[in-house]
Amino acid sequence: MAEPITILSVCGSLRHGSYNAAVERALPDLAPKGMTVTAAPWLGEFPLYNFDVQQNEGLPKPAVLLGELMRKADGLVFVTPEYNYSLPGVLKNAIDWVSRLPDQPFKGKPVLIQSVSTSTLGGVRAQYHLRQILVFVEALPFNRPEVMVANAEDKIDETTGELTDEPTRELIREQLAAFADFVREHGKLRAVA
Ligand code: FNR
Repeated sequence: MAEPITILSVCGSLRHGSYNAAVERALPDLAPKGMTVTAAPWLGEFPLYNFDVQQNEGLPKPAVLLGELMRKADGLVFVTPEYNYSLPGVLKNAIDWVSRLPDQPFKGKPVLIQSVSTSTLGGVRAQYHLRQILVFVEALPFNRPEVMVANAEDKIDETTGELTDEPTRELIREQLAAFADFVREHGKLRAVA
């Protein structure tokens, strides 16, 4: 039997009724056998990054907590909107704080990226900006298949907040299954195997 793996999901939207949060909530059901997906806390509690605060008061609790959760997880999934052709400031801000932790939690961590948008391109440009950031923090980004959920309002039920579009659900199933193989092959599990 394949080694069980734990994945931490991080949502880049703070919005109540977020389409990205809806896709994030669908992940545990779409994950392959042996993969557990748990959502990280809402990113809205992070203060804005300020080196003076880091130096004088230490790292804020939400950053320490997210870093601990990341370290415990075998891999990460970012589910994010695109704002003005890039990733939202709240997500960048959280990454900036976490990247300042000792034993930097992104290092060597397998990372999957998904984006959800009301536009026809599905947030692809945010994904590529996020990839650029992952270079500096030395994460291990998963490549393909990519998941960009375009025209999200047609794929998510507004009343139940559920991802209802079956082709999208199937693509996410395929992506998570491929990510599970990637984590087992390249992630830290390999080091202890
Ligand atoms: C957007 N949106 C957007 N969409 C996109 O595909 N490319 C973009 O560059 C932008 N830019 C943008 C900027 C700002 C400030 C906002 C508020 C929105 C639309 C975005 O995809 C839409 O609002 C999604 O619904 C946001 O995701 P959540 O909050 O529903 O998860």
